[in-house]
Amino acid sequence: MTRSAEARPHDRQVALRPVGEDNRAAILALELMPEQQGFVASNADSLEEAGEDDEAVARAVVAAGRVVGFLMYSAPDDDDEAIIYRFMIDRREQGKGFGRAAVAQALEEIAQIGHIRRVSICYEPENEAARRLYAGFGFVETGLDEDGEMIAVLELGSK
Ligand SMILES: CC(C)(COP(=O)(O)OP(=O)(O)OC[C@H]1O[C@@H](n2cnc3c(N)ncnc32)[C@H](O)[C@@H]1OP(=O)(O)O)[C@@H](O)C(=O)NCCC(=O)NCCS
Repeated sequence: MTRSAEARPHDRQVALRPVGEDNRAAILALELMPEQQGFVASNADSLEEAGEDDEAVARAVVAAGRVVGFLMYSAPDDDDEAIIYRFMIDRREQGKGFGRAAVAQALEEIAQIGHIRRVSICYEPENEAARRLYAGFGFVETGLDEDGEMIAVLELGSK
């Protein structure tokens, strides 16, 4: 994919919206490139999971009124660590700065939850785009989990 500075004007022009009847179909219509499909569960599976898990916070990533991505995190009441565990930007919308803007919004939203002190995130070790994106926010890799996924952690207030 060609990446250029021209993509930058899109930075920070996204909003995170709760999932509802107005955006569910658009979330389900989002696509990844074939080689990215192993990096994250399908949005259909994630929405089903969100419906069964009270702690799951599911968000549509919206830019100029269009749903361009999907993100899911949890911030348990009894823990000071939030986990962003699903994140994707539609294949046609990648490389425009929406991913970076969505992570920034998610971190801002999570930081408002009083008791949360750190955020962790996980990705496949070969997922270079995710590694670079999160490292840019100050996430520090702490090693592989039992499923072989890389865990990276950001201490809130450290950046
Ligand atoms: C990872 C992902 C969310 C990035 O979204 P995006 O909108 O394309 O990202 P942005 O345009 O905001 O790019 C932000 C940074 O991410 C990194 N990045 C994004 N795409 C990249 C690529 N193809 N190669 C290398 N780095 C990349 C870069 O550091 C980039 O910053 P730069 O423009 O200064 O180089 C998107 O590629 C995606 O949905 N991938 C498949 C699902 C996935 O891997 N999810 C994350 C793990 S759960």
